[in-house]
Amino acid sequence: MIILGIETSCDETAVGIVKDGNTLLSNVVASSMELHAQYGGVVPEIASRSHIEAMIPTIENAFKEAKINWKQIDAIAVTYGAGLSGSLLIGVMTARTLAKTLDKPLYGANHVLGHVYANFLTSTTLGGYKMPTKSPTFPILAIIVSGGHSQLVIFHDHFDYQVLGVTLDDAIGEAFDKVSKMLGLGYPGGVVVSKLALKGNHKSFNLPIAKVEGFNFSFSGLKTAVLRQAQVLIGEDYTFPSIKLSERLKMSQKADLAASFQYIAIKTIVDKAKKAYNEFHPKSIVIAGGVAANQELRQQLKEAMNQEIDFPDIKLCTDNGAMIATLGCFMYQEGRGKVDPDYLKIEPNLKM
Ligand code: KG4
Ligand code: ZN
Repeated sequence: MIILGIETSCDETAVGIVKDGNTLLSNVVASSMELHAQYGGVVPEIASRSHIEAMIPTIENAFKEAKINWKQIDAIAVTYGAGLSGSLLIGVMTARTLAKTLDKPLYGANHVLGHVYANFLTSTTLGGYKMPTKSPTFPILAIIVSGGHSQLVIFHDHFDYQVLGVTLDDAIGEAFDKVSKMLGLGYPGGVVVSKLALKGNHKSFNLPIAKVEGFNFSFSGLKTAVLRQAQVLIGEDYTFPSIKLSERLKMSQKADLAASFQYIAIKTIVDKAKKAYNEFHPKSIVIAGGVAANQELRQQLKEAMNQEIDFPDIKLCTDNGAMIATLGCFMYQEGRGKVDPDYLKIEPNLKM
């Protein structure tokens, strides 16, 4: 079984090809990130235009990398939500057209579920990937931490899952991005904040963990606490505009703020994941989404759980087509989510 996966929910035009739900044959990502960086966030119109330009070459490169041709694929899977509507449209219209003209079955994939399925990849024909030694086994506790979503989900089996908790406000990646903006570090924030955090001391400031019921969590109070702490550091009060903070803060202060913020943001997730682990006794724990690339998260999880955790390669944590192709393999195998190429519609607010 060989599936082609197309992902265009945000700014990455991404195409992957996966065999049997466990072997990565290709993973090609064209990002329009540099075009957005100057605006401090993704500009939807620029993202859609870039998808139009990048879509066909990215598909061609994915086939080249996999060293296979069209006839060898069994089906096409495409992200139809959640995401930016203009971006989703390009991927969905491309996949619909290909499915129709090549007479291949089409599967509509949920982006967030796709992130979880990146964890099922255990081998590859490509160089430069560090793959886990085995696929996760059910029940699986999935810690989903991306720029748009933060949630804890327990999977009893494929497509049989229960959302245990969600963020009540910002997603964790969004909090990284906002703190990065506040400290004048640029976009996307996760990578720069975590890099700078290595030079700071996480014990410098006593930032709060939001007390939220059950398995839910919140990051907006933490974000405000970083802002207040930064204002205090430069001798100003709460009326001082966040946009002007960065020019007054020293690099060492920024590093300490980044480290303290990262430590608490990650601990917020890890504490709730530990609570879920104790209650549901999963056989496997997986992490998914862009923030899964974060080393502090990997470190804190290793320390918190008395269980081996296999982490996906960083290239499979941020948005990619291989995760959609992997999910597509299981949809194909389990007969789930097959759609009519004439009618698949985008769902920008799709939930798990
Ligand atoms: O999953 P993703 O690629 O896109 C969404 O579906 O949202 O996640 C992007 C998010 C961004 O907020 C980015 O700042 C964050 O993932 N991110 C990180 C790291 N790498 C990316 N956050 C923390 N540490 C990282 N190393
Ligand atoms: Zn994503």
